[in-house]
Amino acid sequence: NPTVKDIFDTMDYGPAPESAASAVAWLERHGRTFDLFIGGAFVRSASEERFDVINPATREVLARVSQAGEQDVDAAVAAARKAFGPWSALSGHARARYLYALARGVQRHSRLFAVLETLDNGKPIRETRDLDLPLVARHFYHHAGWAQLRDTELVGYESVGVCGQIIPWNFPLLMLAWKVAPALAMGNTVVLKPAEFTPLTALLFAELCQEVGLPPGVVNIVTGDGRTGELLVAHPDVDKLAFTGSTEVGKLIREKTAGSGKKLSLELGGKSPFIVFDDADLDSAVEGVVDAIWFNQGQVCCAGSRLLVQEGVAERMTHKLRERMERLRVGSPLDKAVDMGAIVAPVQLEKIARLVEQGKAEGATCYQPSWAVPEEGLFYPPTLFTNAHPASTVAQVEIFGPVIASTTFRTPAEAVELANHTRYGLAASVWTENVNLALDVAPKLKAGVVWINCTNLFDAASGFGGYKESGFGREGGREGLFEYLVPSWEKRQKSEVRSQKSGGRRQATSEGSESTADETLPSFGMPPIDRTPKLYIGGKQVRPDSGYSLPVFDAKGNLVGEVGEGNRKDVRNAVEAARKASGWTKATAHARAQVLYYLGENLAARAPEFAARLSQLTGASRRAAEAEVEAAIERIFFYAAYSDKYDGAVHATPVRNVTLAMLEPLGVVGVVCPDEAPLLSLLSLTLPLIALGNRVVAVPSERYPLLATDLYTVLDTSDVPGGVLNLVTGPRDALTKTLAEHDEVDALWYVGTAEGSALVERASVGNLKRTWVNDGYARDWFDPVQAQGGEYLRRAVQVKNIWVPYGE
Ligand code: NAI
Repeated sequence: NPTVKDIFDTMDYGPAPESAASAVAWLERHGRTFDLFIGGAFVRSASEERFDVINPATREVLARVSQAGEQDVDAAVAAARKAFGPWSALSGHARARYLYALARGVQRHSRLFAVLETLDNGKPIRETRDLDLPLVARHFYHHAGWAQLRDTELVGYESVGVCGQIIPWNFPLLMLAWKVAPALAMGNTVVLKPAEFTPLTALLFAELCQEVGLPPGVVNIVTGDGRTGELLVAHPDVDKLAFTGSTEVGKLIREKTAGSGKKLSLELGGKSPFIVFDDADLDSAVEGVVDAIWFNQGQVCCAGSRLLVQEGVAERMTHKLRERMERLRVGSPLDKAVDMGAIVAPVQLEKIARLVEQGKAEGATCYQPSWAVPEEGLFYPPTLFTNAHPASTVAQVEIFGPVIASTTFRTPAEAVELANHTRYGLAASVWTENVNLALDVAPKLKAGVVWINCTNLFDAASGFGGYKESGFGREGGREGLFEYLVPSWEKRQKSEVRSQKSGGRRQATSEGSESTADETLPSFGMPPIDRTPKLYIGGKQVRPDSGYSLPVFDAKGNLVGEVGEGNRKDVRNAVEAARKASGWTKATAHARAQVLYYLGENLAARAPEFAARLSQLTGASRRAAEAEVEAAIERIFFYAAYSDKYDGAVHATPVRNVTLAMLEPLGVVGVVCPDEAPLLSLLSLTLPLIALGNRVVAVPSERYPLLATDLYTVLDTSDVPGGVLNLVTGPRDALTKTLAEHDEVDALWYVGTAEGSALVERASVGNLKRTWVNDGYARDWFDPVQAQGGEYLRRAVQVKNIWVPYGE
């Protein structure tokens, strides 16, 4: 008789299929034909056009789904608009109840959702059942909580309005949850477009919305391909767009929405490094690779697709990986025992195969297991490239399939350099048993998520999102809520100011409105006319490249000085100086605070002189000018105070982790200042950035640049290191364009005209700068609610979530 051991040793693999019956019954109940979900009901598309949705594991047609056209998108946006008023007026508690009901509903129907997702997408049932669905429910629960707390935790912010949400096919229902839950929790309404390959679970979710009695129009679902997406992007009554997908389409959306005033968040592609140091637990690291690149067939935006292994263990790691690959199982995704299912669509399968061929042609060593994948569906085997050159196609291009490219490194510094050698910055994973090394490397990685001795972990409490060309904005965590909120003051400005744009705002520059002829005569002595300040770059005054100067006139039209006429070259030099001043970013917050306090002290010492200058140039009354200088000094103190108090958070993520949400400076930020309150606005815009460790290239008010040039000596005497604040005077439009197009500028804040705002958003597509523009609306620089504080600090940093092992 065979022993148990014999049986285990000789036992053949037998499939353990999950039944598709309930999902098939659901499809049949709908006649395998689906309409659009608009205003709480399923309605027929005006275009009557439909397309096939296939099961990638069998190539069978699962259903026919509507292609929403212009009239349909109009109707969906109108339904969302109509629902927005009453929905946003509900108490947080009322919205919490709806989100809670959605969470419970997802759990109630979780197996139906999971099976349907597997049929539609091709991913293993093990993943949809054990990961996607629990995370979807978790997301709705977590955000039910945020809905409940919204009225007390997020005071000073309002709902944005109608949100257009465009999602990809790799995690169809999970991406829906990431988009819909926070939007609804913060009081917005939604028009969501699922990916054309995988619209079915979104349609089942629409039924769930009906089931829980969600008010009509709060969630609308329009199916269709990129054309439907384009209509949503272009729709004038959409207030916010949230997109997850390719970097290419993300950039297109940035361009198309430039100047529209629409709020935008982009979650784009990645080429995330998976770094293995020589002291790592290699067996864990091998399992990590399985989760990093073979999870969801590698169709994961944050997939660990670049394996960086320290030289001493590279051979062993490769050997272990190849062995592990032999034991992976690719097959019917409904089989509960498979590791990898099908690739979502023929076009994606072709793309993967093409890139792998390219990798071979470029000379990297390609390894695939000895067994063959099933032939009837869209399957691709796990693939490992070794000796991939860091600049080669397989090491640089997002393959979006089960393909990992490996390279070796010698030192931690080299690992960091290789890891950051990409245009993307979505995620990174670090493997070492040495906590010092892990926590030394984590801050150096340019990525929105860092996993230490783990990978591909997600949770509603943790923010997720990219650095660099992986996009901007965060989803999840407290930080993700702000994508669906707008500061009350900004919303007010945009809606009110449209009509009364030139109405008497309380500004020191209000063209003499508060002044009389006598009052404007400064009593502190006229500054000498012959001072010709240059530009301020790298802590030095430098002559403008153009060799030209621009005349500056006072309020009465007298020539009072000249300033340098900065050009492209000067901006480039200023950016280079700012790049070099990285010591400021590394300095302690305490050190930065001290410098700022000192700046305040030195400006206070020269307050009368600055007030005189303001009054002379702008024609403001002495009283108003003195008030502006006082406000400027207070603003400096405000940001000095904040520089060591604006902290990140520790998110309580499950599993055996805590997640450190670290706030990191953006890097080099361009600032373009308005003419209003020229001293105060310059400081209001540059100080939050500087306080939190950024370096700034600012274009001061074009009309009143002498206020900025007078600051040079104050900066010099206050120990502000050279390159931290660079000032380039000159023609604002031309300088703005150069800043917006400059790839070494990480972010750009612009306060000026509507046209200028549009230009900034359009021209910043190249490196996907984080932009903040005012769309031409005036801001009251004296009002602390709209000129300082939360929104300024929040926009001066980006969040890096570091998952650290913690507890058991
Ligand atoms: P995609 O970016 O074209 O599709 C994502 C979503 O955007 C879909 O809903 C699509 O219908 C919509 N869309 C397409 N064109 C649009 C337009 N002009 N305006 C508005 N919406 C539009 O991605 P695709 O073609 O499905 O995949 C191509 C590559 O993109 C993949 O191989 C992968 O590299 C990358 N990708 C990255 C994802 C991520 O999560 N980062 C997700 C999906 C794809």
